[in-house]
Amino acid sequence: MKNIAVIGSGTMGNGIAHTFAQFGYQVNLIDIHQEALNKAMDTIGKNLDRQVGKGTLTAAEKAGTLANITTFTEMQTGVANADLIVEAATENLELKLKIFKDLDFFAKPEAILASNTSSISITHIASVTGRSDKVIGMHFMNPVPVMKLVEVIRGYASSDETTGTVMELSRKLAKVPVEVNDYPGFVANRILMPMINEAIYTLYENVAGVAEIDTVMKLGMAHPMGPLQLADFIGLDVCLAILEVLHTGFGNPKYAPCPLLVNMVMAGKKGIKSGEGFYNYANGPKEAVVAAKFSQPML
Ligand SMILES: NC(=O)c1ccc[n+]([C@@H]2O[C@H](COP(=O)([O-])OP(=O)(O)OC[C@H]3O[C@@H](n4cnc5c(N)ncnc54)[C@H](O)[C@@H]3O)[C@@H](O)[C@H]2O)c1
Repeated sequence: MKNIAVIGSGTMGNGIAHTFAQFGYQVNLIDIHQEALNKAMDTIGKNLDRQVGKGTLTAAEKAGTLANITTFTEMQTGVANADLIVEAATENLELKLKIFKDLDFFAKPEAILASNTSSISITHIASVTGRSDKVIGMHFMNPVPVMKLVEVIRGYASSDETTGTVMELSRKLAKVPVEVNDYPGFVANRILMPMINEAIYTLYENVAGVAEIDTVMKLGMAHPMGPLQLADFIGLDVCLAILEVLHTGFGNPKYAPCPLLVNMVMAGKKGIKSGEGFYNYANGPKEAVVAAKFSQPML
């Protein structure tokens, strides 16, 4: 494993590219939008500066990390020499099926195809390729350079060899891989998303306000961040997409997304990436204030 391709350069793609590059891998970062690639390289530069500022990386290591990343707007050339491809494009089933069909065609036959999906079936994604034994979930957490966990999801047909390679590779990135089976939401989001959805219902039913709900969970449960703020960081559109996968996949109404979440996503309030969710980020994440909409009781 030497050459890695990352598909999608949004919140997760830039962190995945950063991490592999920092550990000496050659990374081709691919996005359909040049602006997304420019923004990703800018974000990676700033995050590396933070690591240098903290003394966890030298200036030379920062330069080396950046030199290991090449950007592409076209998949075919970007994946040609990759030993492993990590897909981190938008959380949408049809899009991922199309990407994996194309990857199967353009990537080397021996290349492993991994998805960073939060919830979509790895078995379903693998079914559109001619190499389902080499398709696997490699679920990094946000922010990728900081978070230790990689949830490694075995599809129904993922081989022992593919799983072993991805577990070992995760350790080489100084991460802790945990192997899980392929059912809706896997482990992380099957447990996290119902909690976030319940926090949104608690707000929707006017049991308490945004700051109160987050404070209860931070101080009462020792969570580093409240569930509403965490939803803003993940992206409310991503949370909605994951809940829909859980709801459809299990056919259980307990996973039905709260109507307030649905409304907010439809109104373009996607959290930190759109500048507003439960909080307003006009002055940056550290200065976030409860969004004006929630300063009034909901019902
Ligand atoms: N946001 C999180 O906290 C988080 C955590 C773990 C996993 N994930 C998963 O990671 C994946 C990416 O999520 P994100 O939050 O980074 O999304 P995002 O919206 O920030 O970025 C997605 C990127 O994919 C690009 N893209 C769309 N179609 C593409 C294509 N055909 N080829 C190449 N690039 C394409 C978009 O231009 C965009 O830059 C999703 O599957 C999501 O569920 C997200």
